[in-house]
Amino acid sequence: MRVFILSTTLAAMFVVVTSSGGEAQDQKLDKSKKLTSNQMLMRDKLVHMNRVLEGITLDKFDQVEASGKMLRMISRATSWHIVNPTAQYKRISTNFQEQAADLERHAKEQNIEAATLDLVRMNITCTQCHQHLREVAARHK
Ligand code: HEC
Repeated sequence: MRVFILSTTLAAMFVVVTSSGGEAQDQKLDKSKKLTSNQMLMRDKLVHMNRVLEGITLDKFDQVEASGKMLRMISRATSWHIVNPTAQYKRISTNFQEQAADLERHAKEQNIEAATLDLVRMNITCTQCHQHLREVAARHK
């Protein structure tokens, strides 16, 4: 039952994440076709989060593991790209990479409950980091 509630929450969160991501993409694409490397990597994150959800849904643990690994590597790459990251940013970034590593391990162990929970935690961390960035940006206005 707990897992059922979790997956429903997850699915609902994902609809929000992917649909708002889509809108943002359309808007951005209209304005300028040129994305920064960070923006491209971030969009890849969306794709891999979706692949993790698909893997969990269809019992494809190899896919979950591969996308978990990609997410961890993308996060490491993007953290190198950030100029003057705050201590909070670094903490959130490290958390995300640890959650992705947990996801990889749980996928290898075929532990679907733990992998589902990892995906929820990663979703929360995406939002946490973006909110942090908005707060920092607002402070500098
Ligand atoms: C540790 C911080 C951090 C985490 C965690 C994080 N992001 Fe981001 N995200 C950023 C930064 C920084 C930007 C702004 C990139 C830019 O505009 O250069 C961004 C922007 C984005 C964008 C907009 C890209 C564009 O085209 O403007 C998307 C989509 C995105 N992130 C998806 C995700 C997803 C999905 C996750 C979780 C799986 C995630 N991010 C986790 C830091 C983070």
